[in-house]
Amino acid sequence: MTSKRLLIVYHSKGGKNKKMAEAVYRGAMHPEVDVEVRFLRAFDADADDLLWTDGVILGTPENFGYMSGALKDFFDRTFYEVEGQVDGKPYALFIGTGNDGQGAISHIRRICTGYKFREVQEPILVVGDVTDEQLAACEELGLGMAAGLESGIF
Ligand SMILES: Cc1cc2nc3c(=O)[nH]c(=O)nc-3n(C[C@H](O)[C@H](O)[C@H](O)COP(=O)(O)O)c2cc1C
Repeated sequence: MTSKRLLIVYHSKGGKNKKMAEAVYRGAMHPEVDVEVRFLRAFDADADDLLWTDGVILGTPENFGYMSGALKDFFDRTFYEVEGQVDGKPYALFIGTGNDGQGAISHIRRICTGYKFREVQEPILVVGDVTDEQLAACEELGLGMAAGLESGIF
């Protein structure tokens, strides 16, 4: 049987969301879970990655009350290419921000509704400096998503 597949797509300028993304990736690569993982910066990910995967984890800062331009660019470049071919794929979010994050979350959710993705976990929102506890939660997110895909829960 072929392994399930997980795509992690993130953007980070200052490094916080990268740190969170790396924690998510560590969790997804847990040795007891057998899932293929692609770990990509938003500018490097494309429609083929969305068609390839069984589930998606997206991470971004909030900029000007919205997602980063890089993540928006990923959506802009992939929507028509995958429309109707990714319905129901599970997704989850992590958002590392300065003081809010709700704008990014709500706009990403609207877009993901357009893709017909299915949100399977509440977003991880980190406002300000990221703590070890929050990084552990990111790791849990990666592991939970990978395990959920592997076991067929999602
Ligand atoms: C141009 C710009 C706009 C920003 N706008 C917001 C915002 O609307 N809300 C917020 O909570 N943080 C805002 N921030 C702060 C970033 O979300 C925050 O610094 C985040 O941790 C950056 O993540 P990174 O280190 O992964 O790049 C903004 C930062 C920049 C550079």
